[in-house]
Amino acid sequence: MRIDVVFAPAGLAPAAVQGRTAFVIDILRATTSMCAALHHGAKALIPVASTEEALRLAQTIGSTDVLLAGEKQCLRIPGFHLGNSPLEMTEPTVRGKTLIVTTTNGTKALLACQGAAAVFGTCAANLGVAAEKARETLERDADLLIVCAGRDGAFSLDDAYCAGRLIAAVLGSHGSRRGLNDAAIASLDLVRRYGENWERPLRRSRAGRELIKLGLLDDVLDAARLDVYPVLAHFHERRVTLAAVPV
Ligand code: MLT
Repeated sequence: MRIDVVFAPAGLAPAAVQGRTAFVIDILRATTSMCAALHHGAKALIPVASTEEALRLAQTIGSTDVLLAGEKQCLRIPGFHLGNSPLEMTEPTVRGKTLIVTTTNGTKALLACQGAAAVFGTCAANLGVAAEKARETLERDADLLIVCAGRDGAFSLDDAYCAGRLIAAVLGSHGSRRGLNDAAIASLDLVRRYGENWERPLRRSRAGRELIKLGLLDDVLDAARLDVYPVLAHFHERRVTLAAVPV
């Protein structure tokens, strides 16, 4: 069994992704917002690398069913319909829509995993179904890659804690720690430190502190809620869509 955690996608060589099943985490807030959007009926989300690419793609698709979403420095991009808040992804706003999304770290992490066999967006809000998929993957392939979006190319406490929670959920209390890379062991150690309390590591992280400073505490609290958007967010052929939840 092999479980590798990568703390920031900058350290991820394409060969390290190729053919593997990856779980991408940007709990504050990109993957949480994506799960909220899918849970509330969005048709698909298309992660792109920049504002310019988002605008170009929206023009090419040219449909009123397309919404532009994302952030720069945590704030809505001028001219975009939506920011990057899970609380904006309400059913009346997103049902039946395709969201073109660009964010600072989260969309980059997804795009860095394009060569993987399968990619799933992960956060607290869908941890249960993501862990079920991860367990199924380990039984089949004995191999799991967990990619934290991180913060400006570096480690982020919020994503690493979420990675630890995913591993803990997959292994259970008696699972062997053999086959974990050092980042996976460190992520599990964070779970030992913070226990079941999502709020503490999220509030303490740099992302959490920045969001709180901007008056976005409600987003942090929403991201700390477990299994509230229980959807499997599958990134495939440039789109994130709803995958069947394992039974
Ligand atoms: C990111 O992609 O860096 C985050 O989702 C930023 C944010 O929460 O606004």
